Parts: sequence; C-alpha cells; structure tokens
Amino acid sequence: MDTVTEAILNRSSEPRLKAPAPSGSALELALACAARAPDHALLRPWRYLVVEGEGLEELGRLFESSAPEDATDAAREKLRRMPLRAPMIIAAIASPVPHPKVPALEQCYSTAAGAAYLVLALQAEGYGAMWRTGSVAESPVVARGLGLAEHETIVGFIYTGTVADDKPAVPRPGVSEFSSRWPA
Ligand SMILES: Cc1cc2nc3c(=O)[nH]c(=O)nc-3n(C[C@H](O)[C@H](O)[C@H](O)COP(=O)(O)O)c2cc1C
Repeated sequence: MDTVTEAILNRSSEPRLKAPAPSGSALELALACAARAPDHALLRPWRYLVVEGEGLEELGRLFESSAPEDATDAAREKLRRMPLRAPMIIAAIASPVPHPKVPALEQCYSTAAGAAYLVLALQAEGYGAMWRTGSVAESPVVARGLGLAEHETIVGFIYTGTVADDKPAVPRPGVSEFSSRWPA
C-alpha cells in the first residue's frame, strides 16, 4: 500500500492533546500541505491563524465573550476553557474572492479540503489533531475578534498537539455502504 493511502487510512481525530505543540518545521509543512487543496481558478480563498501560548487564553476570553446574555456561569467557564484543550489551535478561514465562475461555496469547499490536508499532515508529522467548530465557529463576535472581514467564515478550529491518550477506534463504514455504480 502506498504511504499516503496508509496515512489516510490510519488517520483518526485525537481529542486528548498535550504539549508540545507541533514544531515550527512540522507546522510549516502542514500549512504547505493545506495550500495544496484543489482550488478552482487558483483563487487561494483561504487563510490560517495559528494560536498558541498566551494566545489560547485570549482566545478563551473571546469565546467566553460570545456567550448569550442568559448563559450560566458554568457555560461561560466552559467556553473560556475550550481552547486550553490543546497547546495549539489553527483556525481555518474561508476568504472567498469574487469570481464570475467560482461561487463562494466552492471556495469554502477548497478551504475544507485544505483543513483536511492540514490535519492529515500534522498526523503524518507525529502530532494529533482534531477539527472542531460548534457555536464559536458561527459567532460574529468570535469572527470579529479574530479579525475576519464580513465575507470570511471560520471553517474550523484545528486543535493540535501531542497525543495524550489514545482514543477508542472509530468504526469506519464499509465502502459498499456509501458507494455504488451509476448507472446500476
Ligand atoms: C466541519 C467539522 C466540524 C467538526 N466539529 C466538531 C466539534 O465541534 N466537536 C467535535 O467533537 N467534533 C467535531 N468534528 C468531528 C471530529 O473532528 C472528528 O472527525 C470526529 O470526532 C470523528 O473522528 P475521526 O476524524 O477520527 O473519524 C467536526 C468535523 C468536521 C469535518
């Protein structure tokens, strides 16, 4: 089996992460892999924000500030602590460019493909990673705090670091369960 195929088949999200975060060279490689996403008309409609150290505390405060007015103290605390679950978070941001043939949604697909390559590359470099979204990814407060322009969206927060504990294997569907020939 080819090493790429093997790496994909072995990929699994890792929710339990600890320091150290990916090294500078591993991060550079993973971001370079993200930029290999298929990209209609080569618009480069994505960008990535890398957050670590003190930045994670600041991101936690930003998440907390996105809580609805009636949120309980426990819910606020949960939001504040979310980014502390990994030593590094990489926000994948779709930044669509106006184009007559390439709708913004397609440009989001390209960003998502890049984020998937990023996760895969981080794992290939020996780190764990997990793509997360939730209410914070939809929040205009968080988007503004991260400096996103009106037309940009958060496609995911990629939590990454060193795997702290293995997680139970995720059951994978058999190929025939989700694919078929057309016409039958
Ligand atoms: C767009 C997107 C958003 C996700 N958001 C979350 C999330 O907020 N919380 C979560 O637990 N898993 C989230 N996941 C799922 C995990 O990243 C992961 O794929 C899932 O736990 C299955 O594990 P696996 O990747 O090993 O198959 C998201 C996945 C995608 C593609």
